[in-house]
Amino acid sequence: MADDLSSKWRGDFPALSTTMHGKPLIFLDSAASAQKPQCVIDAMNKVLESGYSNIHRGLYEISQNLTRDFEAVRYKVAKFIGAPSEKNIVFTRNATEGINLVAQSWGRANLKQNDEIIITEMEHHANIVPWQIVAEQTGAIIRVVPITSDGTLDLEAFAKLLSDRTKLVAFTQISNAIGTINPVSDIVKMIRKYNSDIKILIDGSQGAVHQKVDVSDIDADFYVFTGHKLYAPTGIGVLYGKYELLEAMPPYQGGGDMIERVSFKTGTIYREAPYKFEAGTPAIIEVIGLGAAVDYLVDKSMYNIAAHEARLLEYATNKISNIKGLTLHGTKDLSQKAGILSFTMDNAHPSDIGMVLDQCGIAVRTGHHCAMPLMEAMNIGATARASLAIYSDKSDIDALINGLHKVNDLFG
Ligand code: ALA
Repeated sequence: MADDLSSKWRGDFPALSTTMHGKPLIFLDSAASAQKPQCVIDAMNKVLESGYSNIHRGLYEISQNLTRDFEAVRYKVAKFIGAPSEKNIVFTRNATEGINLVAQSWGRANLKQNDEIIITEMEHHANIVPWQIVAEQTGAIIRVVPITSDGTLDLEAFAKLLSDRTKLVAFTQISNAIGTINPVSDIVKMIRKYNSDIKILIDGSQGAVHQKVDVSDIDADFYVFTGHKLYAPTGIGVLYGKYELLEAMPPYQGGGDMIERVSFKTGTIYREAPYKFEAGTPAIIEVIGLGAAVDYLVDKSMYNIAAHEARLLEYATNKISNIKGLTLHGTKDLSQKAGILSFTMDNAHPSDIGMVLDQCGIAVRTGHHCAMPLMEAMNIGATARASLAIYSDKSDIDALINGLHKVNDLFG
């Protein structure tokens, strides 16, 4: 049992050998941002130490080499998520920017008064606010799929919300706040069956981290994720889009590198997708880091990583359920849940839990997890959240359980 629950990849992450308040660091906040393996750090350092320049702009050798390496990451990412081509991959700053890009580019060009956008109660603010903004700009209306009492989507209500006015549906693959895994393919099929013209965007910020993703199989129009949760650096994210849609969409931002020609006399001609969405010097070092993270994950296999996290989730759920006065929020069906444990305690506010755990060297997130409507639907203001990753281990869970006993000793 113990062997099954230890991570053979833990040693790849140097930050996990550090301390917090003089205690060995127990990092259980990977849903917020994950630690980086040495190979990602090395890949980025290598470019910075030798061979750094701008890309797409230099005829000289180091610029040509780095341009080649940068574009190779686009191809790697396409393969990693099952996209037909690297031309489906737009580099963005993060998942948030990917959603804003679709809302402002596709949304402003296609939505009109009384058109409907369907989102769900379990969305991160990043998959709510961009739609609220574009709804205000276009007169479109937002409809919200409710959740059931166990924190899963109410699929019957979802089906009933579809109408002739529905133009776009955006929903998360996995809830960042409570870990629910949504039946993405079934939902996409249901929407397509109702009306194949409805556009579908999936927020894969947690999905790409915890599961093997195949966007061609899922058949959504857009899929977004971020690098920093996927063991890559901050400042880099990915928008996947079906090519005919990307081609038809207007640019999101203007600037260098996204144009064929700029003229005051004849106007500006944009490059083809995905380049027309990448104005300005991109996050070059971060893209290289993302490529190294993707290589690392492909080498370990997303299936193995998901299986490891599932075993650990089961162990953690059993252990944590025995803590006096603790309520776990979200589904009890672990086959529909990723390694995210969101909980409250009778005697201690989530901030108190977070502070006691911090003193024990344990990092968890506390608060609304950028999912205020979900908290409202569950009738709670906040939770404490422990989230698992490739490097999480039985020892992390045991330390968490000890820390929670300490919370009870102090507040119980
Ligand atoms: N979206 C990140 C989280 O869930 C920041 O914590």
